[in-house]
Amino acid sequence: MRFILHTYGCQMNVRDSEAVSALLAAAGHTPVSHENDADLIIVNSCSVRGKAEDKALGKLGLLCAAKRERPNLIVGVMGCMAQRLGPDMFKRLPALDFSVGPRRCGAIPRLVARVLAGETGLLETAGPDETPDVPDVHAVSGFSAFVTVLFGCNRRCAYCIVPDVRGSEYSRPAREILAEIAALARNGIREVTLLGQSVMNYGRINPVWDDSDAPSPSGYTEPFARLLEAVAAVPGIIRIRFTSSHPSGVTDQLVRAMRTLPQICHHLHLPVQSGSDRILRLMRRGYTREDYLGAVRRLRAAMPDFALTSDVIVGFPGEAEADFEETRSLMDDADFDNAFIFKYSPRPGTPAADMEDDVPDTEKMRRNQVLLEDQDLRGAAANQRLIGTFQEVLAEGPSLRNAARWSGRSPGNKIVIFDPPPGGLQPGTLARVRITRAAPQTLYGELANDCP
Ligand code: 5AD
Ligand code: SF4
Repeated sequence: MRFILHTYGCQMNVRDSEAVSALLAAAGHTPVSHENDADLIIVNSCSVRGKAEDKALGKLGLLCAAKRERPNLIVGVMGCMAQRLGPDMFKRLPALDFSVGPRRCGAIPRLVARVLAGETGLLETAGPDETPDVPDVHAVSGFSAFVTVLFGCNRRCAYCIVPDVRGSEYSRPAREILAEIAALARNGIREVTLLGQSVMNYGRINPVWDDSDAPSPSGYTEPFARLLEAVAAVPGIIRIRFTSSHPSGVTDQLVRAMRTLPQICHHLHLPVQSGSDRILRLMRRGYTREDYLGAVRRLRAAMPDFALTSDVIVGFPGEAEADFEETRSLMDDADFDNAFIFKYSPRPGTPAADMEDDVPDTEKMRRNQVLLEDQDLRGAAANQRLIGTFQEVLAEGPSLRNAARWSGRSPGNKIVIFDPPPGGLQPGTLARVRITRAAPQTLYGELANDCP
């Protein structure tokens, strides 16, 4: 079969799609880049907001309709919406061939074989505590890869559907993760991003180290700090990122690991969601505004070049103008490099869905716009401050806009454009770049070393 995957949603979904691609290829199927060339199309769906589901459902509706003209076409759905809707998925889309929850990705090649044998309407979802069947194989090329270390989420933030669809926390054994990363490094991967919904919770529920009590070589006892140290020791891995995080995970050990292990980027995506203590409590986030800002202060004190990005929700039930202003001022105090702003979207079955969605959509839009405009100015100013600094850039390849120049990412995850040396560069090389100019979304600079 020739197959293609369409992926919506977060990095976790990107990783799951990539794993499924590798599995399908191993089963003898061939990836293609155009839908019209494919006879198997899989949509990896997201449930985090109503709009995300609408997009995936719209796409699936079109694909199922296309089956009338292309009777051999197989259409499947995977990801969070598949888990959330369960058997209802087939009520909405009777022509769908299979639907697979995120903890069951590994079943897809078997399901495809069954569809080829004449079955249809196949459903595979998982109970919240089932051990995930997600393959550790990769289909990546290039120098950067995602590695899932923690599945599910045990927090119960009032607005969030994730714990319902991705189940409870399960941390993979460290041994398995390290073997996977070593294999990636042997295949040329130089940067890994460790993934989990609350990734610093790694190892808090189930044991992950064979010698659970022993401190690591540098004296780390927390499972996630130990993992960071062990990943940094994998030969060939020159950069480590991890996402997503929660302020409770910003422990002394984590800060020390970030400060002292040279491979770890000095960047966190640390969603704050709101700056109002009242709303944070209603959201059940488990921290106050001051707790959040305290974590930011500790990170900045340890790493002067620390970059901070965040997520914010506007229009949560009961959010008054004064609460919104608190969020606005928190964003200034925290001085985010970048932030994603979302309009609150009630998710069926979550605690917040029982509260009245009382902020009108026009007001959500206004608040969204105000925060975006603030953030644009703040992000541009943060970039201006980087002029004159040296940034270690992981060179990716020729820039899309101007192929004579190269593009890469700084440790703070900013795009940096620079001229390659006369002898050229290998993608995946670290280049030291002096920043000479800053645009709101991009930095420009000159190579500062004699690169290989
Ligand atoms: N409505 C709006 N935004 C949401 N997020 C999660 N759930 C919802 C919801 N119900 C946002 C949060 C989270 C990001 C991935 O999506 O900001 O950090
Ligand atoms: Fe959702 Fe909260 Fe878990 Fe993040 S920490 S995935 S917001 S429940």
